Amino acid sequence: PVEERVSDLLSRMTLEEKVMQLNQYTLGRNDNANNVADPVDKIPAEIGSLIYFDTSPGLRNRLQKKAIEQSRLGIPVLFGYDVIHGFRTTYPISLAQACSWNPALVKQAAEVAAQEARMSGVEWTFSPMIDVARDGRWGRVSEGYGEDPYANAVYGVAAVEGYQGDNLADSRRVAACLKHFVGYGASEAGRDYVYTEISRQTLWDTYMPPYQAGIEAGAATVMSCFNDISGTPGTANPYILTEVLKERWAHDGFVVSDWAAIEQLRSQGVAADRKEAAEKAFNAGVEMDMMNRCYDAHLAALVREGKVSQEKLDEAVRRVLRLKFRLGLFERPYTPESEETDRFLLPASLAVAERLAEESMVLLKNENNTLPLKAARRIAVIGPMAQNRLHLLGAWSAHGREEDAVSLFAGLENEYRGRAELLYARGCDFDGEDRSGFREAVAAAAAADVVVLCPGEKKQWSGENASRSTIALPEIQEQLAAELAQTGKPLVLVLSSGRPLELCRLEPLCGAMVQMWQPGIRGGNPLAGILSGRINPSGRLAMTFPRSTGQIPIYYNRRQSGRTHQGKYQDIPSTPLYEFGHGLSYTTFEYGDLRPSATTLRRGEKTTVEVSVTNTGGMDGAETVHWFISDPVCRISRPVRELKHFEKQPIRRGETRTFRFEIDPEKDLSFTDGDGNRFLEPGDYFILVKDKKVKLTLTD
Ligand code: IFM
Repeated sequence: PVEERVSDLLSRMTLEEKVMQLNQYTLGRNDNANNVADPVDKIPAEIGSLIYFDTSPGLRNRLQKKAIEQSRLGIPVLFGYDVIHGFRTTYPISLAQACSWNPALVKQAAEVAAQEARMSGVEWTFSPMIDVARDGRWGRVSEGYGEDPYANAVYGVAAVEGYQGDNLADSRRVAACLKHFVGYGASEAGRDYVYTEISRQTLWDTYMPPYQAGIEAGAATVMSCFNDISGTPGTANPYILTEVLKERWAHDGFVVSDWAAIEQLRSQGVAADRKEAAEKAFNAGVEMDMMNRCYDAHLAALVREGKVSQEKLDEAVRRVLRLKFRLGLFERPYTPESEETDRFLLPASLAVAERLAEESMVLLKNENNTLPLKAARRIAVIGPMAQNRLHLLGAWSAHGREEDAVSLFAGLENEYRGRAELLYARGCDFDGEDRSGFREAVAAAAAADVVVLCPGEKKQWSGENASRSTIALPEIQEQLAAELAQTGKPLVLVLSSGRPLELCRLEPLCGAMVQMWQPGIRGGNPLAGILSGRINPSGRLAMTFPRSTGQIPIYYNRRQSGRTHQGKYQDIPSTPLYEFGHGLSYTTFEYGDLRPSATTLRRGEKTTVEVSVTNTGGMDGAETVHWFISDPVCRISRPVRELKHFEKQPIRRGETRTFRFEIDPEKDLSFTDGDGNRFLEPGDYFILVKDKKVKLTLTD
């Protein structure tokens, strides 16, 4: 019936009405300095979509009423927004979420975000971002799920399922948007919006898999990328937008451009003017023009001139209307008015936020059991992040509010009430050269049993258009750490950032380090629990921490070198400081040998490999097993290791748990060529878990 209703409506639309369905403007307040919000009365009743910057269903409903009552056909408007890591209940940034290795929890967070958004008048989120990213200088690493294609695929699917459920018309669900298709994470030197050099082989090996998985999971829409992909900008790229997405993957949703990206085809040097930009983007497969009015201004003329076909236009409009019908907007165009207290920060939503923050935090270092802080009576809590709440939210924090957040200091106060005295000194700002706070900080440290130093990044240091030439923290923060270390007091570093950090100067100064990322509004509580030992940390890195920025790009699944013993840096080791998957616990886990159900298998057969993990330490904990494969000899060179499966399980003290990897060679051992064709070669493969390894032989 949806297709019939779309056809019927389409048959009654004029050319101009069709074109308007393909435009997106904005409505409401907007903090982003680049963006301009339209007043309601200036927005045409026929507009296809709006980015909705408000949280009130009232404003939305007023505009929707205009569309329903004042446009000839009464087609409802589609309201979208960047709901990236929560709507009002702010979760940890996506990069942190990836470190939880708990996609079920990520899915729950997406469910809550969807509910808050839909109840506030937003039925379409520009999320998840599933751009594999290996350069921490790029500010948008905070928004994705790290450096690994498989991890991005798994988390992307979890987010899509959480947002969409199985019925988009459900008043607690929103349509998802996979972005930014494709290769945005390869931005040269970590600078935003710039050229990306991606071979077709790498495109298919690294950047496409999360998108393919997201499309298979039913993602309703896709956003095209800003970047130029090896000479053809993503916004004007028929190969990826039409040939792959629509023809091969049969995606029946639509593609929205990124903000003003169509016009930017001029700056990228492939269109002479806005009209040509509209023609190129549309013919390549971009159905909706985000905030650019290129389609608005030129698409009708392009159709009349025969530069855009009537069929292609109808197909584009069909895709947009299809989603509106699926969302039930024709039946229920208005959002029921409700109190904010009925929508936001519900106890169950906060519990998910707290749990996800807890599981995202990574214990990077813990020399001589510096942590947990059980016996300390006086704890000096120092640093620009110690009492800061705003920057805990991270970039793209939607309607998240500073006043909802629990600071690290507040979390520690709750945790240690009646048990230890907390001393506080800010020490220094996030950057600059003002050392005047050092004295007070050193005095606090000297008076305490232990120092918890909370350096970090401001939220606007990551996200869009927020690249940094170095991933080290500003010098002033490192200097403060060095002065505090001089006191000889045990030093614990709690790091808050939207990217992996260069820690080579900080690491030797401290006994322990916890990477808490930008943990959202509930971060302070679990962080305090980790420091006190109430919580056993279980996060593992989803992105490599280099020793120095100069090692970038550095990632675990690199390809082999011809001279493994050479090609090293002369000045520093070639290894990272903390590798992908790194993360300590307060307990110890012992791995048994890998147990395959068969070591030789024929094409078409499957096998299972098991491993037993025993909690041999003194505390209940949780362990994530990462299952890698390697294919040492192949027609194409393959990465030294490739993640193919992961699982996290709680393991009580003294308990042994079995972890399983069911291997389907067609899926898990195969590879693609530079056009996405999949191949499986007979030969030897290795299954790798930690330092354990087992050989599988595949025969024809
Ligand atoms: O969704 C975002 C995108 O990720 C970056 N540019 C702006 C869009 C809409 O806000």
